[in-house]
Amino acid sequence: MSLVEDLLADHAGLDPHAVAHLQLLLRDWQILADLSFADLLLFVHNARAPAQLVAPEQLIRPADRDQRRSRTRAAPAYLCVGQMRPYTAQTIYVEDLVGQTFPAGDRPMVGRAFNERRVIRDADPDWSTGVPVREEAIPVRFRDGLIAVVTREANVSTARSPSQLELTYLQSAGELAQMLADGTFPYESSHPVEEHELSPRVGDGIIRVDAKGAVIYASPNAISAYRRLGSLDNVIGQHLADFDPLPDTLLEALTDGEPVETEVERDGAVVLRRVLPLIREGQVIAGLLIVRDATELRRHERALRVKDATIREIHHRVKNNLQTVASLLRLQGRRLRSDEARQALAESVRRISSIAFVHETLSEESRQRVSFGKIAGRIVEMLGDGLLNPDIPVEMSLHGEPGDLPAEIATPLALVLTELLQNSVEHAFPYDNPVRPWNAKETGHVRVRFERAPTTLRVLVTDDGVGLPEETLETMANLGLQIARTLVESELGGTFETLPPETRLGPHESALSGATFELVIPMP
Ligand SMILES: Nc1ncnc2c1ncn2[C@@H]1O[C@H](COP(=O)(O)OP(=O)(O)OP(=O)(O)O)[C@@H](O)[C@H]1O
Ligand SMILES: [Mg+2]
Repeated sequence: MSLVEDLLADHAGLDPHAVAHLQLLLRDWQILADLSFADLLLFVHNARAPAQLVAPEQLIRPADRDQRRSRTRAAPAYLCVGQMRPYTAQTIYVEDLVGQTFPAGDRPMVGRAFNERRVIRDADPDWSTGVPVREEAIPVRFRDGLIAVVTREANVSTARSPSQLELTYLQSAGELAQMLADGTFPYESSHPVEEHELSPRVGDGIIRVDAKGAVIYASPNAISAYRRLGSLDNVIGQHLADFDPLPDTLLEALTDGEPVETEVERDGAVVLRRVLPLIREGQVIAGLLIVRDATELRRHERALRVKDATIREIHHRVKNNLQTVASLLRLQGRRLRSDEARQALAESVRRISSIAFVHETLSEESRQRVSFGKIAGRIVEMLGDGLLNPDIPVEMSLHGEPGDLPAEIATPLALVLTELLQNSVEHAFPYDNPVRPWNAKETGHVRVRFERAPTTLRVLVTDDGVGLPEETLETMANLGLQIARTLVESELGGTFETLPPETRLGPHESALSGATFELVIPMP
């Protein structure tokens, strides 16, 4: 649950539908901040009043601060649950106010908006911060009730005689604010915007059209975007259908009073258009078309997809090549007379195959990470298939989740696991070994456990076979354990150890009675 959800559910005493409405607002109100050149704050009644959340004095505008001092300190009445800064102007609040509570006296206009159920405007700018700030408090209507108040606070010191762009912004902002009070903004849209971060913003380019779709104003960026789509004339005064290649959905949005966002492509140029119908007393009075040239963006995306496909193709080829090498060795092994040599080649085939698994998995997924559980499963399967002695069945089991690992870790780890499992199969259950015979239990067991912590992966491989010879790892190791150790210690920067039989491995588990290997690998 996000902080805001938490605040709304816990402290505001609002029902879930009202909370959902405010969340829609929080998703869509950037546009109101940008059009207003103003900071927005969202206030709700503070149902629960934890004292420690009272806004510190320095966050209150000085004028309000004086009022606050002159009052007896009441329980904080309002809770700030949202804050939005404009991209189009400098912010007034450097601090984050979400989660702060305010006594009624600190925010008189919020109280008036709640009580009078209408938009409250400052008559004169407030100079208490040294810059003139104009505040407006807008009640947020949901169904028949008022659930919150939004304040718009703009620094008006830069107000020269405003350009047409600014006038269009401010007019549209005023209309959106009124819609907030009427309950028609945020839009209860039936189709949510999919790529919200790509959504066009006010600064990308804006066109204001009348209710029929004739252009009243177009910002320079919007005109450039349409230039790229091939409309060379001045769009002002024209109808949307005259210059937009696919105007139907846009015009439908105006008729239905529902916002839409669509993309149009022409001559290699891609433009996103978002239409916001402005509604007054149930009628669409105008429309805002926010336009973003997304050509570059889409080109990048396409390039990334091609790159991604190439990488997967390469993994696929590497896998094929490794499989070819493995079959060459297998063929060669069939011609050999010596058992030992055949054995050696068979082991190499398994080593190579375990690397091929990693590449195969990488070729199937677009992320450069693989589910190692899947790979471990395939290694176990492969070793089961090539079991040396059918007289002693060996049961291998996997426990725990290794999670997704990057290829750099998965490849060496797959090799290490192959070595350890191969060793268990080969050495733990020696039915015909006169020196250390295995006391003929029915079935041998090998257990692999993965324990994933935030910064490490612990892997335990344990069996109930004859156990390791009384030697140190260094003296005991032939090629197999040497490979395993080198990979773990050098390549993966981890530790590789043997544990005595029956060591406690965790709260519910001990090592089996045979050999146990423990590796701990740091995770990036
Ligand atoms: N699970 C096990 N149970 C009993 N003994 C083991 C086990 N794992 C390893 N060993 C002992 O450790 C020795 C070294 O293993 P290592 O994998 O290094 O070489 P190897 O299996 O003999 O040959 P290769 O190089 O082909 O793997 C083995 O010969 C065996 O005696
Ligand atoms: Mg071995």
